[in-house]
Amino acid sequence: MPKTIKEAMLRGVILAGGLGTRLYPLTKVTSKHLLPVGNEPMIFHGVRQLTEAGITEILIVTNPSYVGDFVNVLGSGKEFGCEFTYRVQEEAKGIANALALAEGFAAGGRIVVLLGDNIFESSIQQVVSDFEAQQAGARVLLKKVGDPERYGVATLNGDQVVRIDEKPRRPESDYAVVGVYFYDSLVFDVIRTIEPSARGEYEITSVNNVYIERGQLEHSLLQGEWIDAGTFDSLTKAHQILLNRKE
Ligand code: DAU
Repeated sequence: MPKTIKEAMLRGVILAGGLGTRLYPLTKVTSKHLLPVGNEPMIFHGVRQLTEAGITEILIVTNPSYVGDFVNVLGSGKEFGCEFTYRVQEEAKGIANALALAEGFAAGGRIVVLLGDNIFESSIQQVVSDFEAQQAGARVLLKKVGDPERYGVATLNGDQVVRIDEKPRRPESDYAVVGVYFYDSLVFDVIRTIEPSARGEYEITSVNNVYIERGQLEHSLLQGEWIDAGTFDSLTKAHQILLNRKE
């Protein structure tokens, strides 16, 4: 069935729930995603990444304690040239569990998902275009890192991702899976099929492995620096990257 322009539009989801315990006591009164990075609250970076790539309908998923703070800081979206929708994740049961809350918002269309604590030196605009040109399935972004055991790690066979392991003790490659994911409308059916991991979370890695089994996971290599700003050290690095980016 042909889609209307609005239905066919790529929508954005920023996941900003979770507890931020690794940044305690900074996260005692608000979310890690509202802490300053560069000259702005961390979440502004994700919002700009999406709006600069032409994505103007954005869902923010937060935890129940801080949803009011997000609305106070971000408002309707007018200031950013976009429109925000907010949803609350009652318990931090994992990234895939947070993403499940986006089903109604996605309205049967395709989505780009950003983890709210991921900071990028470069724009994601080219990857958005690559996904828009893709017929079906999902797309992840990979980056060579020195400490892959902290991340989802991709095993490659030639140019194909054949498996992703979540925080493996002995990583099979140096390719971390970055916190930006692109999905077709079937992602919500996939989420319904996965089981929680040993740490009790619905992992985004489990979702991506289903797409691999179906032969429907594409990847791009991320250009420029990338930081997962979930710890004190990485928050400091993220701060430096964004201050330099503005010079
Ligand atoms: O940063 C990239 C990595 O992010 C990937 O390589 C991993 O495969 C992926 O699992 C994830 O690992 P982290 O351990 O860094 O995820 P973390 O628990 O820090 O959550 C990342 C973001 O997701 C965080 O900014 C808030 C959001 N989140 C997380 C959880 C667990 C939610 O919205 N709800 C949740 O329940």
